[in-house]
Amino acid sequence: MKPKVLITRRIYPEAIEILNGHADIDYNNSDDGLAAEELLQRSKDKTAIAGPNGQRFGAELLDQLAGLKIIANIGVGFDNVDIAAATKKGILVSNTPDILTDTTADFAFALLMAAALRVAEADRYVREGKWLRGGVDLLAGLDIHHRTLGIFGLGRIGAAMARRGKGFAMRILYNDAQRASEALERELGARLVSKEELLRDADFISIHTPLNEGTRKLIGEPELRLMKKSAILVNTARGPVMDEAAVARALSEGWIAGAGLDVFEREPTVNADLLKLNNVVLAPHIASSSIDTRREMCVMAARNVLAALEGKRPPNLVNPAAWDSR
Ligand code: 8YV
Repeated sequence: MKPKVLITRRIYPEAIEILNGHADIDYNNSDDGLAAEELLQRSKDKTAIAGPNGQRFGAELLDQLAGLKIIANIGVGFDNVDIAAATKKGILVSNTPDILTDTTADFAFALLMAAALRVAEADRYVREGKWLRGGVDLLAGLDIHHRTLGIFGLGRIGAAMARRGKGFAMRILYNDAQRASEALERELGARLVSKEELLRDADFISIHTPLNEGTRKLIGEPELRLMKKSAILVNTARGPVMDEAAVARALSEGWIAGAGLDVFEREPTVNADLLKLNNVVLAPHIASSSIDTRREMCVMAARNVLAALEGKRPPNLVNPAAWDSR
C-alpha cells in the first residue's frame, strides 16, 4: 500500500509529478489553506505533508498525527511549525533554502529602491492624471548609492542583500546574534554593529532575520524613534518582527521617511493606516515569487518528502535531531 501524502495548497505541477507513483496524494488544489479542523481530519492518515509555510502546525495538532514522518515546508522559514513538538515526536521538518536567496534579495532591494525613489507613488501620479507640469523637485526621492545600508540578520538572504548594496557603493552595517566570518565581512565590506548604532547610522534598514522569540517585535516604537528621519525600512522577513502599527505611525508622523513591506503581522490583513499612506510600498508576501524560484521550491519540497518516504535523510532538514533520534 502506498504512503499517503497531503498537499495543503496549490503548488507547481512539476512537484506533484515527482510524488505521483510513489504516494497516494490528497491534494488541496486551491489557493486557500486548510482550516484547522479540516487540516486535522486530512492529516490523520498521512505519512507526509507538504505545502507553503503559511499553514500552521502546533503541538496539539502534531500530537494527533501518529503516523506522520515529515512536514515539508515550501519556504525557508519554519516558524509555522512547533519544532520542539515535532522533534519530540520524531517528525522531520524540512524547508527550501538557497534556491530563494537571490530572488528574495532582488525583491528586497527592489522594495528599497521603489520606496527611496517613490516609484509606486510616481506610477499612481501618472495614472491618476496628476502630471500636468514638471517641477524641479517633482516626486524627489532619496539617493541610494553611497548611502549606508543596515541589515538585521546576515544569513543567506541578508548577505545577498549586502551584495546588492555593495553594487550601489553602499556602506554595509549589520547586526546579528552571531558574528559573520571574517571572510564574509571582508567580501561584503560589512561591519558588525550594535542594534542602536545600526538604527542611528543607517539610511536604509532591511530586516532578514527568522521569526523567533529573540526577533519578535525587533522593530517597535523605540527603535523607529532612533532611526533617521530620512531612513527607509524594508521588511521581507516576517511581519511580527516589526510592530506594524508603530511603523504606520512612524511613517505618518515622519519619524522615518518611508518603507517597503512585503510581510505583515496578520496576513493577509494589513494595518488600515498603512493602506492610506503614500510613503510606503506594499506587497503581498511575494519576495520569493519568481516563476522559476517558486517552481523549484515546490520541487525541492517534493524531493524532501520522497526522501523521507524512502527512509532516506531529506536534504534540507530543519530539525536533524528528529532524524538522529530515529
Ligand atoms: C514562502 C517565505 O515561499 O520562504 C519563506 O519563508 O516566507 C516565502 O518565500 C511563502 O511563504 C510561500 O510558501
